[in-house]
Amino acid sequence: MHVLITAGPTREPIDPVRFLSNRSSGKMGYALAQAALDAGHRVTLVSGPVHLLPPPAAELHVVQTAQQMWQTVRNIVTLHPPSLAILSAAVADYRPKFLQPEKIKKNADTITLELERTPDILGSMRQPFGYQGYLAGFAAETQNLIHHAQTKLNRKQCDVIIANDVSRNDTGFDSDQNEVILCFPGDHVEAVPMQSKHDLATLLIQRLVNLAIEKSPSPPS
Ligand code: CTP
Repeated sequence: MHVLITAGPTREPIDPVRFLSNRSSGKMGYALAQAALDAGHRVTLVSGPVHLLPPPAAELHVVQTAQQMWQTVRNIVTLHPPSLAILSAAVADYRPKFLQPEKIKKNADTITLELERTPDILGSMRQPFGYQGYLAGFAAETQNLIHHAQTKLNRKQCDVIIANDVSRNDTGFDSDQNEVILCFPGDHVEAVPMQSKHDLATLLIQRLVNLAIEKSPSPPS
């Protein structure tokens, strides 16, 4: 099966030496890519900048900005549609509206940065990308985990949202372990207990591949 995975943060440039980004390490997405390869699948990994060695057998596309990730995913979905897409990247939601061509000098006491929305990659998969395969998104939340995850599931027309609580120190962003809740349509939820990101990735790939086969029983691409 062809599996598409997005991972890591994006960087949104402010000027030639500064950017906006977030604390995503990319560990979960890279663990998912490795687990999918270990299970014998073909993996396309679209990654923001991370300090991790990519699995050598993955087809790797490194991008910087949300816009570049959106365009790269669009090309892959159009040219080689995967049977399973897992969008785990922590895409920046806003970017500076104007890229300053020169380094900003510290002349003023305060400065204001005007931000604009970035494209929503997960929210573009069904429309306008036309993706029909199994679609898994992540929801990193600090409160009302299941409620926010269900809202994202519906809004972005996903088959499942993998929700995790990033307010805790022992899970999420830079941690080596994670605990998640799978949220399916119809308010069906499944808790997956705390374990290493490696074990969690193996379990998630098994589960998601089976769900993707159920959704599209024709021979997997
Ligand atoms: N996502 C995406 N493109 C964006 C923002 C998010 O593809 N511009 C994807 C993430 O990869 C993840 C899911 O959408 O799979 C949810 O990301 P999250 O940041 O939790 O949700 P947002 O849509 O950004 O909503 P909010 O920040 O308001 O919680």
